Amino acid sequence: MHPLISMGIDAFTGGNHLWDRVEALDYVRKEKRIVKPLNFPATTPGNPYLVLEKNEMKLGIICLCGQVYMPACDSPFGILDKFMSDHPDHPPLLLDFHAESTSEKRAMGWFGDGKLAAVLGTHTHIQTADEEILPLGCAYITDVGMTGAHDSVIGIKKGIIVDKFLTAIPNRYESADLGLQINAVVVDIDDNSGKAIHIGRIKRTAE
Ligand SMILES: [Fe+2]
Repeated sequence: MHPLISMGIDAFTGGNHLWDRVEALDYVRKEKRIVKPLNFPATTPGNPYLVLEKNEMKLGIICLCGQVYMPACDSPFGILDKFMSDHPDHPPLLLDFHAESTSEKRAMGWFGDGKLAAVLGTHTHIQTADEEILPLGCAYITDVGMTGAHDSVIGIKKGIIVDKFLTAIPNRYESADLGLQINAVVVDIDDNSGKAIHIGRIKRTAE
């Protein structure tokens, strides 16, 4: 069992880097708790939809990638519409919207309001301070941020990235390991209505 699963994590969403390591493909294929973006091809390994059941509550987990400054994928807006019509009896849904541009993420928040319990942005690794409950009960944040090494440039040793900008020569990336932070949100969803009632931001630095 993967250590993160044995620590009690119920679901994982994967963005554009889910398939980068060939060693992980078999694992991604078999582990249903890892949810791949819905708007990638059906032939791409991974589970596109997970329903969590806990304490007699259900939560659907989906993930979409953005199209702006991102690898090619289908329209996340069109695919979300198709998903909703294919799953009329879905439980409250949490969407990880894995996208680069703030405008595309904000637009998805408005598009998802009234359809989804939460639209949580990821991919840019920097937590934004714009968490809110949208008028029709969708919890929204442009980016949850990164749990990892913040003494870095989005997780890569900072000197490597600075050199790359200085010289325009590509370098092999190495993960940073300093400045550890947990970036996260807590979303409360009403049992009866399936709407979000609160979203709170967490940003904690390791001692
Ligand atoms: Fe990403």
